[in-house]
This record gives sequence, structure tokens and C-alpha cells, in this order.
Amino acid sequence: MFDSETIAFVGGGIMAEAMIKGLLNESLVVPEHVIASGPREARGQQLAARYAIEWTTDNTRAVAGRDVVILSVKPQVMPQVLAEVNGLVKPDALVISIAAGVSVARLTEGLSHGAVVRAMPNTPAQIGEGITVWVPTPDVTDTQLDQANAILGALGETVSVTDESYLDMATALRGTGPAYVLLFMEALIDAGVHMGFSRRIAQKLVMQTMRGTLAYAAESDRHPATLRNEVTSPGGTSAEALYQLEAGGLRTVLARAVWAAYQRSAALGQGGGERLSGRGPEGRL
Ligand SMILES: NC(=O)c1ccc[n+]([C@@H]2O[C@H](COP(=O)([O-])OP(=O)(O)OC[C@H]3O[C@@H](n4cnc5c(N)ncnc54)[C@H](OP(=O)(O)O)[C@@H]3O)[C@@H](O)[C@H]2O)c1
Repeated sequence: MFDSETIAFVGGGIMAEAMIKGLLNESLVVPEHVIASGPREARGQQLAARYAIEWTTDNTRAVAGRDVVILSVKPQVMPQVLAEVNGLVKPDALVISIAAGVSVARLTEGLSHGAVVRAMPNTPAQIGEGITVWVPTPDVTDTQLDQANAILGALGETVSVTDESYLDMATALRGTGPAYVLLFMEALIDAGVHMGFSRRIAQKLVMQTMRGTLAYAAESDRHPATLRNEVTSPGGTSAEALYQLEAGGLRTVLARAVWAAYQRSAALGQGGGERLSGRGPEGRL
């Protein structure tokens, strides 16, 4: 894919390493065409030893003249990095940012550059099992769209969207998603303990039920509601339990939670993060 193109990673942390590893494993790029930058020489030596890529502590050297520039630093470091490399990105280069909450407008303005992809990976991306939602600017060419898809594909599945607002929606579903599922698991385990199971047994029963149900649903082409109907016998235990869940407003609470996460993601992207420090627990969901 990247026959002659060079790729620079500004920030050589966990996510950058996952991408470098994936790209090299799939032979999409050769190590001599990859450079990464960051403040710690020791980290550079580690990456160079593992992947034979080039390393520099100078972000400007990493960026200048490269065909693809990946910004893989933490969001709070981004203003400093943008100021440092502003105007240095090659005019025909593609820039990909994976920093949470840093908008396309902030990136294009901060870099004085048009061809930008903003991507939102999630945590399983660290082991190549993520799902990354990404949005390109109109300046990104068709070839660069393929390049972005290949690079982000190193982190797992990819979904491209045409409007940035979908990134905040994706954050509410798939970024925050593990928190919903874990809380649901915890509540079920507690319910098992309430009935009299030991915590260990309750946890084992719940974990395997979730694992099996997920595998079953993933293998089936049918909607979850159809699968659920099949396990709901008239007047049976599932029907009784589902009635109580609906009476308790499970769907509405979930929809409200996801909507709140979406709004919070959008607010954080607009610089609303400062509110976090002054918020009491009653203000949090
Ligand atoms: N990890 C995830 O699951 C995940 C999920 C979704 C999105 N993301 C996004 O991915 C980005 C990277 O996350 P990560 O988990 O890879 O973080 P990370 O492991 O902390 O990597 C960030 C790297 O940036 C380096 N760095 C710090 N200041 C720098 C500077 N001024 N110039 C260049 N490099 C600098 C850090 O070096 P030092 O260690 O030496 O400080 C570190 O190696 C974040 O913006 C995050 O929002 C991560």
C-alpha cells in the first residue's frame, strides 16, 4: 500500500505502537519509511529495537517532508504539538489525528493544512480488536482515503462517516459502551448474590451467559429482538423478568444515558472539559 510513502508518528505511545505493529505485520509499509517522535529517548530506543523504525525527539523533523503524519499524542499535548509543527506539513500530505475531542477545525487551523482525518479508536484497538470511526475533510483525496482506512485498519474494524457529529455519537455508543456493559454485568452478579449464590459462582454464570449470548447473536443474522422473542415462552420466566425490566424503564434509562454521554462528548470537544474539576458527584451520571 505504502510503496514509497513515508509515515510519521508524532507521539510514540500505546496507540502509535499498535498501528506501527499492524502496518509492519501486514507488510503495508517497510520500517525504513516509518519515523516516530516523542520526548523520551528511552522510548525511542525501545520502538527502534522492536520495529527497526527511525526515532527522533524533534517533532518538526518527524513531520517535515512526510507523506502521512499521524498525531498520536494525548489531547492535552495537542496545542503544543500543533504550534510546533504548524506550516511544516507537506502540502500534499495526509494528516490523521486519533486524539480524543480535538475537532477537525482545530486540526486544520492549527496545522494550516486541509487534508485531515479525525479518527476515534476505542480501547480494544490496543490489541487490534477495536472499532475506529473516522471522518475525512473534503481535501482528502481518494488515494488518501484508502491510506487512512489501511492505517486505521491496523487497530481493528473501521467505519467512515461524513459528518463530525457522528464521532460524538460513536463515542457515546462504542467508546462509553464498555461502561454500560460492565455495569449491567455487575448488577446481574449482585442479583445472583442476592438470591444466594457465592460471588464467584454468580460471576462465572453471568460472564459465560454474556459471552455465549454475544457469540450467538454475532453468528446470527437476525435482530436481537427476534432472538429474544425465541427465548421468551408465554407465561414463562423470561416474560416475567422482561415485564419487570420494561416497567422499571430500562430502555428509557439507557437511551437517556447514551444521550447524556453524547452531549458530554460534544461539550468536551468544544473545550467544556474544565467543568469536570468543579463538578460535584451529583452532576455526574
Ligand atoms: N489508549 C486508548 O485506548 C485510546 C482510545 C481512543 C483514543 N485514544 C487517543 O490516542 C491518543 C494516544 O493515546 P495513547 O494511549 O497512545 O497514549 P500514550 O501511550 O500516552 O501515548 C502518547 C505519547 O505521546 C508522547 N508525547 C508526550 N508529549 C509529547 C510531545 N510534546 N510531542 C510528541 N510526543 C509526545 C508520550 O511520550 P511520554 O510517554 O514520554 O510522555 C507518549 O509516548 C490520545 O490522544 C487518546 O485520546 C487512545
